[in-house]
Amino acid sequence: MARAGTSAAVLDGTGLDGGGPETVIAVSSLVKRYGDVAAVRGIDFTVSRGETFGFLGPNGAGKSTTIKILCTLATATAGTALVNGLDTASQRDAVRRNIGLVFQDTTLDTYLTGEQNLRFHAELYGVPKAAVAPRMRQVLEMVGLWDRKDSLVSTYSGGMQRRLEIARGLLHAPHVLFLDEPTVGLDPQTRSSIWAYINGLKQREDITIFLTTHYMDEAEHCDRIAIIDHGKIVAIDTPEALKASVGKDRVQIHTADDRAAIAELAAVFGIDAAVHEGAVTFAVAAGEQFVPRLFGELSIPIRSVSVSRPSLDDVFMSYTGTTIRDAEGGAGNEFMRNMHRLRSGGRR
Ligand SMILES: Nc1ncnc2c1ncn2[C@@H]1O[C@H](COP(=O)(O)OP(=O)(O)OP(=O)(O)O)[C@@H](O)[C@H]1O
Ligand SMILES: [Mg+2]
Repeated sequence: MARAGTSAAVLDGTGLDGGGPETVIAVSSLVKRYGDVAAVRGIDFTVSRGETFGFLGPNGAGKSTTIKILCTLATATAGTALVNGLDTASQRDAVRRNIGLVFQDTTLDTYLTGEQNLRFHAELYGVPKAAVAPRMRQVLEMVGLWDRKDSLVSTYSGGMQRRLEIARGLLHAPHVLFLDEPTVGLDPQTRSSIWAYINGLKQREDITIFLTTHYMDEAEHCDRIAIIDHGKIVAIDTPEALKASVGKDRVQIHTADDRAAIAELAAVFGIDAAVHEGAVTFAVAAGEQFVPRLFGELSIPIRSVSVSRPSLDDVFMSYTGTTIRDAEGGAGNEFMRNMHRLRSGGRR
């Protein structure tokens, strides 16, 4: 689904004039400052029609700020952001007709039923009267909530509320759906069911999806991802290409004599191996191609072998110098320090 050449165009700074007919989102030199805080510090990217494009980054990286600018809910300090060729700064109403938005925080009216929430939204977006009922049924069935449409939203589970928000975002048949942290705080089972809906949605609707996340597994669902850290894009490509850019695969072997195997790996291949998790472990480029050589040239019998690719965690680490959890741990620690200060009457 990823369109070849798009990321290269972004990286070399070309093709940012709104792009061709297949370009749905075009962001150029975008900056957003809130007073002294530089939330977005000059980012460039394009998203092609039909793509699922993700922003992966820790707390405070600038993900929601970028979404808000693209959805016309915030004004950029500098730079441009186009959606379907429309300027998010000067053509707000037209942009809004083209997009659906699922916010990071729930914005449902919980004292209304699921159906009432959708009807309200349909009026807000001027969906033609005759189209409302069939479209409502279609989107509610898509997220598996048709039989619960008459229940108050306050009786829905967290996952059901999220699914209703996705249905609402789709009601007016937008060209682009923006999802800010679509599964944050949900249990793994609900998260995977929401992804099943999103993936199904792409089969049924001609839609481009832009989402933000700080979950690595969620980023894996995207055709391309941009890693954003401190308001800057530090890498942008397909998950596979990003992982490949880390370079080396991890190989683990079980042998008849681990100590001898380690010595021989060093002598024959110049590889620095060590025992981890009970297996002789080392990193090597193109692990799958290396394994046949290993069997051919190692004299110590090999009982089993496993090759694993670098994960997106490895990618994040290699581009930012930290893990996403550590980056967020810092924010959490700050929160805990502030809580402690409040509790102790403002003293440190
Ligand atoms: N309305 C605002 N006023 C002042 N500062 C803001 C405002 N909105 C965001 N910021 C700041 O801009 C930076 C980026 O925030 P943003 O909400 O875009 O991050 P994020 O990547 O969405 O993070 P999270 O994963 O926590 O949702 C943060 O430092 C934040 O404090
Ligand atoms: Mg956010």
